Amino acid sequence: MAVPTTDPVRRILVVGSGTMGSQIAALCALAGYVVTAFDVEQDALDRAAGRLRDLLARDVAKGRRQQSDVDAALGRLAFSAELDPAASTADFVIEAAAEKLDVKRDIFARLDATAPAHAVLATNSSAIVSSQLAGATARPDRVCNMHFFNPALVMRCVEVVGGPQTSPDTIATTVGLARALGKEPVLLAKEIPGFVANRILNAVRDEALFLLEEGVASVEAIDTACRTALGYPMGPFELMDLTGIDIGYHAKLARHAVSGDPRDLPSRTLTRLVERGELGRKTGTGFYRYDEEGRRHTRPAHGTDAP
Ligand SMILES: NC(=O)c1ccc[n+]([C@@H]2O[C@H](COP(=O)([O-])OP(=O)(O)OC[C@H]3O[C@@H](n4cnc5c(N)ncnc54)[C@H](O)[C@@H]3O)[C@@H](O)[C@H]2O)c1
Repeated sequence: MAVPTTDPVRRILVVGSGTMGSQIAALCALAGYVVTAFDVEQDALDRAAGRLRDLLARDVAKGRRQQSDVDAALGRLAFSAELDPAASTADFVIEAAAEKLDVKRDIFARLDATAPAHAVLATNSSAIVSSQLAGATARPDRVCNMHFFNPALVMRCVEVVGGPQTSPDTIATTVGLARALGKEPVLLAKEIPGFVANRILNAVRDEALFLLEEGVASVEAIDTACRTALGYPMGPFELMDLTGIDIGYHAKLARHAVSGDPRDLPSRTLTRLVERGELGRKTGTGFYRYDEEGRRHTRPAHGTDAP
């Protein structure tokens, strides 16, 4: 039976408190929602709380936010390693856990068992379409993709897309929430892995990796060309280091799992970096090397240290 959705969203649960989940939780709290940020790792919750406090304090120091708004938002934001209590009162859930289908299906099944019938279960996945998760629940009409961009506090675009069973009400609630968070929702008419912006970005990345692997130009030269000729704020390698090389790698694998097209497999450079645990800024090394202060340094183009 279709569930009426006139209930306004008041309480939001964000599942996963890593790079994306922590900022999505802060964004929701700043917009006036009562928010719980959940993670399976207590460490991840502690890191998220510390990171957000620093980030928001910096915003206040730079005059971008009022201290009173930040205090009020932090007062509305709880960090918890227990899922069920927050799920049982949530009007809207945004899942931002690891980019793995089995992990997300388990989370959706558990949320479905606990969250109120009217609650929307949205995934922030970069590549997994929500119809792959909807079947893990008994409410496929309340499941959709709500895809934020990194850093979620800053980037204005939110892609929204439903699967074949998603109800118009669910889409309307999700688009409405994106607007209430101060974002610019981009509504897709049908599902496709990677959605719109990342598919375009991927085409650029694939070409950048091709040029690198063919020895046509260095990481730095390719990034410079994208910035200075195409007006990109950041080159493709700088951006991969910022978002996390593993995220792009897993997105590629997920896309390949759906398409079976060998061209969708991660390139040999991405695979090598992931195998070495060189995931970009978060590990201090990726296509570039980062010092203690986060300053970027070029890695040698040849030899064992090359990306
Ligand atoms: N990083 C990006 O630029 C970006 C952008 C848009 C969307 N996304 C998507 O957002 C999601 C999260 O990405 P991220 O970059 O924040 O990853 P991340 O690795 O920084 O954080 C993931 C968090 O999920 C937690 N987690 C793992 N299993 C869990 C479970 N069963 N329940 C609850 N928490 C669990 C981990 O402990 C970790 O803290 C992914 O689906 C990714 O595709 C990422």
